[in-house]
Amino acid sequence: MSTHHLFATRASRMKASEIRELLKLLDQPGIISFAGGIPDPALFPVEGFANAFQVALGVDQQAQSLQYSVSEGYVPLREWIAEHMRQIGVECDIDNVLITSGSQQALDYLGKLYLSPGDTALVGWPTYLGALAAFNAYEPRFDRISINGNRGAAEYRSGAGEGAVKFAYLSPDFANPTGETVDLRGREALLDLAEELDCAIIEDGAYQALRYEGEAIPPILSLELARKGSLESCRTIYCGSFSKTLSPGLRVGWVVAAKPIISQLVLMKQAADLHSATINQMAVYQVARASFDTHIPMLRNVYGVRRDAMLAALEEYMPKEVQWTKPEGGMFVWITLPSGMDGADLLSRALETVKVAFVPGQAFFPDETGANTIRLSFSNSDEDTIREGIRRLGEVLCR
Ligand SMILES: Cc1ncc(COP(=O)(O)O)c(C=O)c1O
Repeated sequence: MSTHHLFATRASRMKASEIRELLKLLDQPGIISFAGGIPDPALFPVEGFANAFQVALGVDQQAQSLQYSVSEGYVPLREWIAEHMRQIGVECDIDNVLITSGSQQALDYLGKLYLSPGDTALVGWPTYLGALAAFNAYEPRFDRISINGNRGAAEYRSGAGEGAVKFAYLSPDFANPTGETVDLRGREALLDLAEELDCAIIEDGAYQALRYEGEAIPPILSLELARKGSLESCRTIYCGSFSKTLSPGLRVGWVVAAKPIISQLVLMKQAADLHSATINQMAVYQVARASFDTHIPMLRNVYGVRRDAMLAALEEYMPKEVQWTKPEGGMFVWITLPSGMDGADLLSRALETVKVAFVPGQAFFPDETGANTIRLSFSNSDEDTIREGIRRLGEVLCR
């Protein structure tokens, strides 16, 4: 006898992720895939990790590396992260740092911490699908954030019905899926709005380190810190990740926030998985310490060239009705097709006729609008493949 009828209400809100389904396409021979927003495995610091795991399993460290550890995370890694955060403008100490199993876990915990059913979560339109999936389990309603502050607090409040606006979630640098960056004015305006609404800000810094041109813009948390003078008074919660820089498979991310928020998240981690894998944290620490500062410029060079190749190919091969973003970093270009054209239809035609894969944009919109959008990732193909893939895509679009 099935137990489906016993599932909690939240189960019915959980849908299979189109992205995960699409990642399966990467395995088909001959496909040029712009679908997965994943790092190029050829760029993983494999030797560094081989070394680090060997050290961690050596006689000096094995009792620690294979053992249970504290929920807050491996102290040397938290210290490294605190220093890294200071370098990007966020003055903090290790009590402000929690290690999570990828930043995805942080998004889940933050949904759990802030959202009661019916509460409002403000998100970009479109936004990172994994954030929508994480928050959705806590049964919120989603409303559209306006980065430049051209919708006032009153509007969000009146739109929110009974539920309070609990947080605004965004990825201000090279967002997934659009590749767009929020400028300094937009970040300040968002802070103003959060003050007016009395809500938290979840700043997702997953791609923060991957800038290929222009000056870094201070994290929202650092701007708030400059206003308030102490992290303990800040409403912004920063989520970081080693997934896009060192390795996504090790599942090591972090949260930086005021201590009372970190304490709550620690309780959640204790209840959920006790701690992130000790040996992975130790290995990430070793590799970050030894080579983060040289590895990142290398990634910026390689991915920057790929971004340029994609933008140049789009210029050359796209019909003139097609528009796209010009990301300064990250992994994505966001394409707006002529209205009336459907990204999912285009995907099936592109797969069938020219063997090109990408992600239809609709899934990134909470209300499933945006049918005429698609997301392309340039991170995982070399320049010639990118050029050829975009040429083929242009061919399908011009048919
Ligand atoms: C914007 C954004 N945030 C968070 C994540 C989750 O990354 P991880 O859990 O591997 O740190 C991703 C992964 O694609 C992402 O694109």
